Amino acid sequence: MSTFTELNRQYFDKQASSYNGDFRNVLETIYNQVQSRRSWISDIWNDTETGKDPEIKVLEYACGTGAVSSALAPFVDKVVGIDVSEEMIKQYNSNAKETGFAGKMAGYVGDLFAESVPAEISGPEFQDFDLVAVSMALHHFDKPEFALKRLGERLKKGGMCLIIDLVPEDKHSPHAMGHAFPEANATIRTHGFTAEHMQKLFESAGLSHKVDYCVIEEPVVFRKEGKEISKTIFIARAQRT
Ligand SMILES: C[S@@+](CC[C@H](N)C(=O)[O-])C[C@H]1O[C@@H](n2cnc3c(N)ncnc32)[C@H](O)[C@@H]1O
Repeated sequence: MSTFTELNRQYFDKQASSYNGDFRNVLETIYNQVQSRRSWISDIWNDTETGKDPEIKVLEYACGTGAVSSALAPFVDKVVGIDVSEEMIKQYNSNAKETGFAGKMAGYVGDLFAESVPAEISGPEFQDFDLVAVSMALHHFDKPEFALKRLGERLKKGGMCLIIDLVPEDKHSPHAMGHAFPEANATIRTHGFTAEHMQKLFESAGLSHKVDYCVIEEPVVFRKEGKEISKTIFIARAQRT
């Protein structure tokens, strides 16, 4: 594991138990956006004509407590969550139980960006996904371009990639998130992604069909330790060619 990933692992291990409470507003927005844009994200769901595959599989990478996973679990056969933080994975698996999806939703500790990916997350059940989603985590990755390549390789041909992340700040307050939450600052590599940046990242990962980027109009509010900050986020998709 790289030093930067290790920093993230340690930070999010500490945040895990309060994460759902602290970021309730953000998680609700993500959940609602994913459910309401489901047909924009993909047409392969268990209630669509094109979704008649024997098994529809979703990977949520850097899943945290699993907002995207829980939003999509009703419409697929299997949801795999992977995160470097063991404490986050405990929360993910307990959320899966609480929401009644434990039968089809399971989280695993792992690092897909390691030089050699561990055998525990390399078997056939961790390949050939219909959808790979990354929510509010791309800005925590050391090398977003390399990350999207690794994630794109986990998709079936024709599978979709979904990214939810921060729209960059304007030039007068480029690192507002870091100022509000200084401890988190060290775990952030990129302070948001424009539509052009996402397009480049998708294309260099071989995800060049159906590229789209939508800004979510209503800002989300991050609240923690008595501080709060309002941020604009986007939702973007692309298809593996
Ligand atoms: C801000 S949280 C987002 C969690 C969740 N996806 C959400 O939308 O609420 C970032 C997550 O990314 C994970 N993470 C950071 N770097 C990672 C990496 N290189 N590989 C896997 N997970 C990573 C952290 O452990 C943390 O759970």
